[in-house]
Amino acid sequence: MTEVPLRVRPARRLLQPVLERIDRRIDRRVRTADREIEQLRQELRATQDQLASHQQQPFALELLYGKDGRLNDRMPSRQAFKKLADEIAAVAGRPGAWNETAQAFRTLVEVESRGVGRIAGSTANILGKLATTPLLGPPQGEILEIGTLYGLFAGGLVRQLLRRGLDYQLTIVDPLAPVQLQPGMEITRDPSGTPITEAVVRANLRYAGVESQRIRLHRGFSEDPTVREALSDRLYGVIVIDGDHTRDGVARDLEWAEQIAATGAIVVLDDYGDARWPGVREAADAHLADKTRMKWVGRVSTSAFLRAG
Ligand SMILES: C[S@@+](CC[C@H](N)C(=O)[O-])C[C@H]1O[C@@H](n2cnc3c(N)ncnc32)[C@H](O)[C@@H]1O
Repeated sequence: MTEVPLRVRPARRLLQPVLERIDRRIDRRVRTADREIEQLRQELRATQDQLASHQQQPFALELLYGKDGRLNDRMPSRQAFKKLADEIAAVAGRPGAWNETAQAFRTLVEVESRGVGRIAGSTANILGKLATTPLLGPPQGEILEIGTLYGLFAGGLVRQLLRRGLDYQLTIVDPLAPVQLQPGMEITRDPSGTPITEAVVRANLRYAGVESQRIRLHRGFSEDPTVREALSDRLYGVIVIDGDHTRDGVARDLEWAEQIAATGAIVVLDDYGDARWPGVREAADAHLADKTRMKWVGRVSTSAFLRAG
């Protein structure tokens, strides 16, 4: 032990209370700092947890809305969605269509999630058709879809017409070939992996909530005279032309639509202006330039809307 010199002892006695106060103060500061450090540690752990859950969320969303298992994702940006809603409003002659476009989005996601296969086309184009068609106020709910693929779009369209209170009957014509038939393009396998069969289309329509007694599913080609004869037994309030996308094919379907469209009917011409299917636009423009009952209403994304006079 070190011997303290005699002259230092009184000074130490004098300083002792001050030293003790300093010690207590240091202790207090250290305890406060420890508490603060512990608090910071907890905040850091909470932030790390939040960050981890945010990093996981996009993947789960990606699985729900991403393009795996189909051709296109269902994740429109706010900006793209706004642009689309504005386009729909302009064609429908309304000040806005944000709510209707949002409802159409829910229909698309729900119908595709419950069904098997996929709806063909980009999200913008599908929403355009689902939202605009009812807003144009078709005169009645007899629907004809030429080219159905898995039947999911038809199921969604029925839902959308119901939003306007339209009583529906659905007629579909499609070859129901195991994979999509498209003259000029060979498709060997669908990205969804599901074959197109009558059972699949009927199941999808059931999943979409379409009542079976309101469905006529006709297997065949729209240009076939026997098909035409069978399906020309009524006038349709909505006709969706989405079968053979060649110029001749679309021209034939438009010509048939002239005969079976009710007054005021809406004709939806899918893939109008889509660079992959130039024949659709060529046929439609040629048709409208000639003598016709159809009047141009407008275009949303890559679909044109016509109204029968
Ligand atoms: C682009 S897909 C239809 C997509 C569907 N409307 C949708 O929105 O998901 C075209 C469908 O039309 C069928 N198709 C091809 N030529 C046809 C024709 N001449 N008549 C009727 N359907 C046809 C194809 O086999 C395919 O099922």
